[in-house]
Amino acid sequence: MYIMGKEEVEAVQQVIESGQLFRYQPGVESITDKLEKELSQRFGVNHAIALSSGTASLITALAGMGIGPGDEVIVPAYTFMATALAPLAVGAVPVLAEIDQSLTIDPSNAEKKITPNTKAIIPVHMCGLSCDMTAIMQLAQKHNLLVLEDAAQACGGSYQGQALGTIGDVGAFSFNSHKIISCGEGGAIITNQVEFFQRALIHHDGGCAFRDHKLDIPFFAGLNFRTQDILIALFRVQFCRLDGILAAVRAEES
Ligand SMILES: Cc1ncc(COP(=O)(O)O)c(C=O)c1O
Repeated sequence: MYIMGKEEVEAVQQVIESGQLFRYQPGVESITDKLEKELSQRFGVNHAIALSSGTASLITALAGMGIGPGDEVIVPAYTFMATALAPLAVGAVPVLAEIDQSLTIDPSNAEKKITPNTKAIIPVHMCGLSCDMTAIMQLAQKHNLLVLEDAAQACGGSYQGQALGTIGDVGAFSFNSHKIISCGEGGAIITNQVEFFQRALIHHDGGCAFRDHKLDIPFFAGLNFRTQDILIALFRVQFCRLDGILAAVRAEES
């Protein structure tokens, strides 16, 4: 569980005193821009977008991956409901697969749920427990599926030495109040794929055309899943605490 201190209070106070609350500031690197760089560095990926929630992150990721009406997305039957709601939000159909004793999606049951309409699978790293990503990635390759890792409950965890969220095509996190590090409400996505990143950027911000981004894909109608610099100022302090908090949790459990 997250721990907060006076550093978070000071970080929020600085944003309030600066008078700059909006995440995009023309010609200026905002607090959120800084966090996105820090996320990319920490996870060793090319792109990160901070978002308003974990649910927004899953929806934005799917839209970024081009998932939409007519598509089916395989999700585990045991997860927080947002994993199944996100495909619905982009007009796709969530298809439930069983979990196994790992409490995460059973790859062999997931394979049985594949149809010609299946476009993606969302493995969920429940309670910090990693999915069998070797089997999931093999399945995805065999059936030409995209993989969105729902790492909402597993920020900082790893699978065979690789950070959760960096193994599939896109990784999604939640920073709500029940998560290991938190800013009350928040989320993020990470990816190495520039097209998914650019589509996600457009989808998460209906005003994207007015920002400083250099995009090489056409605009389309986006929404508003933007975060806020006040929350991200707080979250950047939390992010620095991640390794310490994980070490404390592991020590408690051993
Ligand atoms: C596995 C999982 N996915 C997605 C979410 C959605 O995150 P949020 O509540 O930040 O929208 C949660 C939140 O509890 C979650 O546990």
